[in-house]
Amino acid sequence: MSDFYKKILDNNKVWVEKTLETDPNYFKDLAKGQTPPLLWIGCSDSRVPANEIIGAKPGEVFVHRNIANMVVHSDMNMLSVLDYAVNVLKVKHVIVCGHYGCGGVKAAMGNDSIGIIDNWIRHIKDVYRLHNTYLDSIVDENERFNKFVELNVKEQVFDLGKTSIVQSAWKNGQELSIHGWVYGLNSGFVTDLDVNLSSNNDLDQVYQLKF
Ligand code: CO
Repeated sequence: MSDFYKKILDNNKVWVEKTLETDPNYFKDLAKGQTPPLLWIGCSDSRVPANEIIGAKPGEVFVHRNIANMVVHSDMNMLSVLDYAVNVLKVKHVIVCGHYGCGGVKAAMGNDSIGIIDNWIRHIKDVYRLHNTYLDSIVDENERFNKFVELNVKEQVFDLGKTSIVQSAWKNGQELSIHGWVYGLNSGFVTDLDVNLSSNNDLDQVYQLKF
């Protein structure tokens, strides 16, 4: 067994012991159920762990992660997580959290074929195409990369709002806000992009569903 593999199993035992020292009922209580107020949609990048960044304990955040924190409206995985979070858990907030230095976004700026992932990255390229006049006007490549990361998050926030799941919840008067954040890998801080949706009036008219 590799050292790393053995270490993570040992880590788990230590974690259980330490946790029970502080609260002997910790796991018993958690096993009763979850009512997290927040759904987090973030990047799979190992450096952007949802709970740690926001100081959330187990039970406080429902998490969905994929490459470049995408909200692809035909993705059954994302739709199922969103549906469960909104309609069963009744989360009050959804945060799409991107991060500077995102490899998926970087790949979308280039033309190299990486493999099957090209088809996933294509959704990110669609965001570039939507904003190509602005993005192409940024001369500094790193600055363009950063802005692309931010614009990608904003688009995913709007893509969440466009789903029938979210619009139906708003129509039923459910309290549900969607926010966009970017995490700084080299600072640890998140930036709130100040894109907040709480009604389908915030969407382009063509996306507003009438029920
Ligand atoms: Co990433």
